[in-house]
Amino acid sequence: LKKVSLFDNLNDEQLEHILRIANRRTITAGSILFHEKEMGLTFYVVLAGSIKLFTKSNTGEEKVLSLVNSGESFGELSLLDGRPRSASAQTLETTTVLELSSEQFMALMQTHFDITRGILAELCRRLRQTNEHVNDLTFLDGRTRVLKNLITLANKNGKRDGNLISIHMALNYDELAQMAGVTKPVLSEVIRELEQRGVLQFGINEYKLNLLKLRG
Ligand code: CMP
Repeated sequence: LKKVSLFDNLNDEQLEHILRIANRRTITAGSILFHEKEMGLTFYVVLAGSIKLFTKSNTGEEKVLSLVNSGESFGELSLLDGRPRSASAQTLETTTVLELSSEQFMALMQTHFDITRGILAELCRRLRQTNEHVNDLTFLDGRTRVLKNLITLANKNGKRDGNLISIHMALNYDELAQMAGVTKPVLSEVIRELEQRGVLQFGINEYKLNLLKLRG
């Protein structure tokens, strides 16, 4: 729980209180936690694993909005504004979450201003990220968006070893394309080009980015 940034300023006793009241659950890969447009009753903190948040168009096409990794949280919007879930949530791998009911979430916000400020800061971060994504969709071409998305994921989830960054990521090609806002053929073409230049190496649930070759 100490790795959860939202709970950064809580002491051990307060953290133990949260662990006592919250429900801890481990979920297998590919499970849906909730669907877009459902009523929201739960706030989630990811303790291990990863979740994708996505929406669907009227024709059933998916758009990945964001990935949530361990130490991050989601599901606060419908608890705060009482409206239906704004996105669906699905586990990308075996994932352990801490679930707080709406009442527990509200009580924590009321008693700990640091948690309230953390939630607000997270909402600000998402708005900034969404603005940046709108700018990217408006001003950048598909290839640049794919590159930028890979570099953003590397900065967020990557472990650096010299010029190589290893990025753990349980996303398939479709999901990567949806994140960057490109079609699958565009994504495949950029990835093929990067692999040929030795910039990128794909493995199972992992990819490696060579910074030296990327600059060249
Ligand atoms: P809620 O609407 O309750 O359920 C879906 C959750 O996805 C939402 O709360 C937020 O926690 C999260 N979410 C929605 N939109 C975005 C976004 N653009 N970026 C990151 N997270 C989001």
